[in-house]
This record gives sequence, structure tokens and C-alpha cells, in this order.
Amino acid sequence: MKILLLGKNGQVGWELQRSLAPLGEVLALDARSIDYSGDLTDLNGLVSTVQRYKPNVIVNAAAYTAVDKAESEPLLAMRVNAEAVAVLAKQACLLGSLLVHYSTDYVFPGTGEKPWTESDTTAPLNLYGLSKHQGETAIQESGCQHLIFRTSWVYSARGSNFARTMLRLAIERDSLKVIDDQFGAPTSAELLADVSAHAIWAFQRQPGLGGLYHLAAGGEASWNSYARFVLNQAEAKGMALKVSAKDIEAVPTSAYLTAAKRPANSRLNTEKLRMAFSLYLPDWQSGVTRMLTEVLENYKC
Ligand SMILES: NC(=O)c1ccc[n+]([C@@H]2O[C@H](COP(=O)([O-])OP(=O)(O)OC[C@H]3O[C@@H](n4cnc5c(N)ncnc54)[C@H](OP(=O)(O)O)[C@@H]3O)[C@@H](O)[C@H]2O)c1
Repeated sequence: MKILLLGKNGQVGWELQRSLAPLGEVLALDARSIDYSGDLTDLNGLVSTVQRYKPNVIVNAAAYTAVDKAESEPLLAMRVNAEAVAVLAKQACLLGSLLVHYSTDYVFPGTGEKPWTESDTTAPLNLYGLSKHQGETAIQESGCQHLIFRTSWVYSARGSNFARTMLRLAIERDSLKVIDDQFGAPTSAELLADVSAHAIWAFQRQPGLGGLYHLAAGGEASWNSYARFVLNQAEAKGMALKVSAKDIEAVPTSAYLTAAKRPANSRLNTEKLRMAFSLYLPDWQSGVTRMLTEVLENYKC
């Protein structure tokens, strides 16, 4: 099997380089790749990449993910998250390849408290959500074979992430305020990549499994309870913090002005995915604990 991976150095892309490796030959690209174009703003380049490499599976982990910046760069966000995805879908259709793509709970309006199902009505609150929704729609309307995974609150040990930021702030500052009225499930890039590989493998044997799925770790958290969990673990490992977990102040979303509106309810119902692929999705705490073990071991104060 030949797999084309786009966005190889993002959180999910990096983990996919590992998880896809046992499935076949992987051509992993990013926007700077030279022999083949992996730049999602270069639509002709993408067509040429797919036509030359002829992958059986295209995995698109590249995306414009700067949620606030997207409000002032709508054309770029739309190009990467919608137009380029439409091009990939069309090429997948022509080749008969499977397109694997990632989307977000930001396609929903964030109302209520119930975890969103795949059939709930979408109504994005911000430009990023709108661009991701248009990408999903382009794939579905193209008629290509696809797996779309909507996820939420992605983190990885690599690069910057919420947990690292909380640790840094708890060391540097005398107080810490964290939003307590947005709810979701912190989901590791590792889990997304592992489930993706499993789903591709299953799809090869049962193509009827194609479709749209919600994929997130089990349980739920607010940003505030997530931050408390992180600081609790750090304190338990003997890290010296100026702000301890119990002193994190809970504030509403309205305490922070951001360019893009955020949904309060990012909960995703993952039953469809778990049933279709016979999967168990561990609670978010187990992935965060694992990531923290790595981060805390290497943490430089
Ligand atoms: N992060 C989250 O909390 C979250 C939540 C829900 C859904 N998702 C979705 O999950 C998927 C993976 O997200 P992630 O967390 O891995 O994001 P990420 O770490 O921001 O990775 C995205 C990758 O896309 C690359 N990229 C941006 N513009 C590009 C272009 N024009 N051409 C080629 N590559 C380009 C970025 O490269 P540069 O860094 O060089 O720009 C980056 O490596 C995305 O579809 C995202 O929308 C993410």
C-alpha cells in the first residue's frame, strides 16, 4: 500500500509518521518539501503530487489551525482548510484512493451540554470552524472514499501545548486564572494517529466503514480542571510551583477577549466510531499523564 501523508510535522502528522509506517510505503510531506509539493496553498502542486505518487491512501494532517488569526486571514484559512481539501478529494476520487482527513468540534455552535453526534446540525462560531466545515462538505460531496475524524483539544508532548503553558505560568507567576466554562476532552495526537492507522487497516478489509466519525478521548474536562490536573501531577513529582493546583482561579470565557469565538460545549459523542471499529477510547487523564511524564522528565525550569 502507498500512503501520502500531508502535514508530517504537525502534532498529528508527526505521530502519523510512526503509526502509518507498518501499513505500507509512506511519502510524508510538509509545506517545504522539495521533490513533491506538500504545500496546501499550491493547488496545482497538490494535483501533481497525487498524480505522480498515485497513493492508495491520502492522509491529510495539514491544516490552518491558528483559530484567532484565521479571523484576519480568511482567504488563507479557506485555501488550506477548504479549497485544498476539495482538490485532494477530487484527486482521491479520480484515483479511487481513500482520503483520511481531520476536522473539529468547532463545526458545532457549542450550545447545550450533550456530546455532539455526527448527525447533529453544524453551525460554526468562527472562521476556522467554517473553513473546516467547508473542507468536510467538499469531501462528502466529491463522492470519494473517505474517513473524516472530528476531534477536539489536541495535544502532544512535542512543541508547545496547554500543559506546558500551565507549567510555565505556574512557575513564573503568582496567580493563574483559567477558563472554567468550556468543556471538551483533551485528546492526544498519539491516540488520533493510532486510531487512524487502525481505521485505515479496517477500511481496507471493509470499505463500508468509510464516513464521518467523532474521535476524542473518554471523559470530559474544562480548561480549568485540565490545568488543575496538570499542576497536581507536577506537584506530585516534586516540581516547585508558585501557583499550586488548588489555587488556580476559575474564570468565565468572557474574562478573555479573543478574536475568534470559542464553543462552550466541545464534547463529542464517539459511540459511532467505537462501535464501527470495535475500539475502546481511554479517558483523557491517561493520555495526559503519559504526556506529562515525558514533559516533566525533560522540563527545564
Ligand atoms: N489542535 C487542536 O486542538 C485541534 C482540535 C480539533 C481538530 N484539529 C484538527 O486536527 C488536525 C491536526 O491538527 P494538529 O493539532 O496536528 O495541528 P498542527 O500541529 O497545527 O499541525 C498542522 C500542520 O499543518 C501544517 N500546515 C499549515 N499550513 C500548511 C500549508 N499551506 N501546507 C502544508 N502544511 C501546512 C503546519 O505546518 P507549519 O507549522 O509549518 O505551519 C502544521 O505542521 C487538523 O485538521 C486540525 O484542524 C486540531
